[in-house]
Amino acid sequence: MTAVADGIETRAAGLQIHPGPWTRQAKEAAIQRETRDAFISYFRRSVKTRNWTPWDDLPLNEMRERGHLLSDDTVTLIESFLGVEDYVGDYVEEGMHQVGKERVRRNIQLQWGAEELKHAEAWELVLLHSGRRTEEQLEAYRDKVAEHKWTMRDNHPGLDTPLGVMVYAMVQERATYFNYDELRKRIRSEYGLPEKATPEERARGKQIGAAGAFKIVANDEIAHHGIFLQCFDIHKRYLPYEAFDMLFRVLGGFNMPALYLIPNESEMREALYRTKLYTPLKHGRYVANPILDTLGLENKRALERAVQEAKLLPEGLGPEHVSLSRTGEFVVSMTPDEAAPTF
Ligand SMILES: [Fe+2]
Ligand SMILES: [Fe+2]
Repeated sequence: MTAVADGIETRAAGLQIHPGPWTRQAKEAAIQRETRDAFISYFRRSVKTRNWTPWDDLPLNEMRERGHLLSDDTVTLIESFLGVEDYVGDYVEEGMHQVGKERVRRNIQLQWGAEELKHAEAWELVLLHSGRRTEEQLEAYRDKVAEHKWTMRDNHPGLDTPLGVMVYAMVQERATYFNYDELRKRIRSEYGLPEKATPEERARGKQIGAAGAFKIVANDEIAHHGIFLQCFDIHKRYLPYEAFDMLFRVLGGFNMPALYLIPNESEMREALYRTKLYTPLKHGRYVANPILDTLGLENKRALERAVQEAKLLPEGLGPEHVSLSRTGEFVVSMTPDEAAPTF
């Protein structure tokens, strides 16, 4: 069997080993080990199944044919997302600053950054090949983006810690996925296409024009949400109070990154208002609630209770001693220890 004693995995055929106490160090070692395994499977899938380039894999000719069909609001929103994605250097810098010495988290940030850099390039190509922005306009826009610097501390105070970066990313990636999927549907309707991919699109494995670009990028974003959700889930099994408290704080005042910094902020706000692409109600229904549900909590009140109860859990408990109800109550059981003979 396999047991964990002070964070060191011990294997002994046929022997029941009594787990040592769950010290802070033991918990952190277990988190590292599980997070490393999650990263390896994430990385494998990423480089083998989501390997695409903006310059080779987007249907640029179809964008040229249909670009005139896009509404001004849609174009404004795509340009805004170009701005948000173009802060990728700041996001990566901030992530490395926070987690740079934790090797597993560092690797996650590096691979995530390598994938994110493609997104701004993709939106630039969409705007250019749709014939809605010139090269000069795009260069001027991106130069203006570069005049500002995004930091976690200034934009999301209190989240500038390794755990804060992880939890913020988990929520932000799902919100970004939602926005891109909504924009993909909007583009399809403006192109005169049905909401779902046609049999021809499915057969060739790519949606038409700009909708195809949004499908590919949205697929990256939901994968990003997935890895950060997995990291959070690991953390919360060992250090539930820290994890739930951070989630409560992130969900309490969530804002998309860099919206205040992009050059066309006021146009973006007007376009968001007119299109209702992303509203507080939609954020609750399609971003916050599905995250809570996946983590086993029925709503925000359950999260609040989980924070309060986790704070009262005795030190030294491991994940095998604790289970969480959907209403946010912890049930503590010492049975796994009592059942295992010591030696
Ligand atoms: Fe992105
Ligand atoms: Fe992302």
